[in-house]
Amino acid sequence: MLIVANWKAYVENLEKAERLVAVSKKLLRTTEHRIVLAPPAPLLGAFAMKNTSRIAYAAQDVSATTGGAETGETTAQIYAASGATYAIIGHSERRAAGDTDAIVAEKLAHAIAADLTPILCIGERERDRDGRYLAFIREEITAAFTPLTSKERSRAIIAYEPLWAIGKTAESAIGSSDLAEMVLYIRKVLSELLPGKNASHALVLYGGSVEPGNIRDLARATGIDGFLIGHASVDDVMFAALTKELS
Ligand code: 13P
Repeated sequence: MLIVANWKAYVENLEKAERLVAVSKKLLRTTEHRIVLAPPAPLLGAFAMKNTSRIAYAAQDVSATTGGAETGETTAQIYAASGATYAIIGHSERRAAGDTDAIVAEKLAHAIAADLTPILCIGERERDRDGRYLAFIREEITAAFTPLTSKERSRAIIAYEPLWAIGKTAESAIGSSDLAEMVLYIRKVLSELLPGKNASHALVLYGGSVEPGNIRDLARATGIDGFLIGHASVDDVMFAALTKELS
């Protein structure tokens, strides 16, 4: 399993970040799962640049620009030079702040060009009985993938994060049968966009209200390859419990 801890803007100082990194290092001594930490940019630099552990680091976003006179921007290349090897792209919180499908596609291309493994976030705002949310998911993947070559598309990890489940507690998360259905659907869409067997090899993660109380159910028989975890990933006790639940 790939466990990605999206710290969002929850971790505000070095001391807390150090505690969370130490917990991950300890967990990696006893688990085969892969842990990727996504701290805010300055904290990422502090840890990823001198990283000698099995922890990998992800940017929470990358700039839509490629550098130059762009005050306040952090490009994919800068993240890569800071030690990041993954980048979260198109998170719903960035989309809510103005990232359109076109901007997401651009950021995805920049991440790949900088040799970062992109974690493309997709997810519907709400579900409806007519299945319009499925068309929405298809459109989000297609819009992001269309400008890319087949080889580039094959590098992306998909994170399914339904907006209605983000930031809540386990009771509000998706059920395992609905998740299994969605993973199948995402793979079907990928099979139309990726060459050969690449769709079955693509990693699909789930994010949204993942907690120790539901992670085991969500991992079992759903076809999911890992999790993108928000609030529960910045509580050291909860994060350790989450990882242990998967063992
Ligand atoms: P929560 O785990 O807090 O619901 O957040 C999910 C998410 O947005 C991870 O990227």
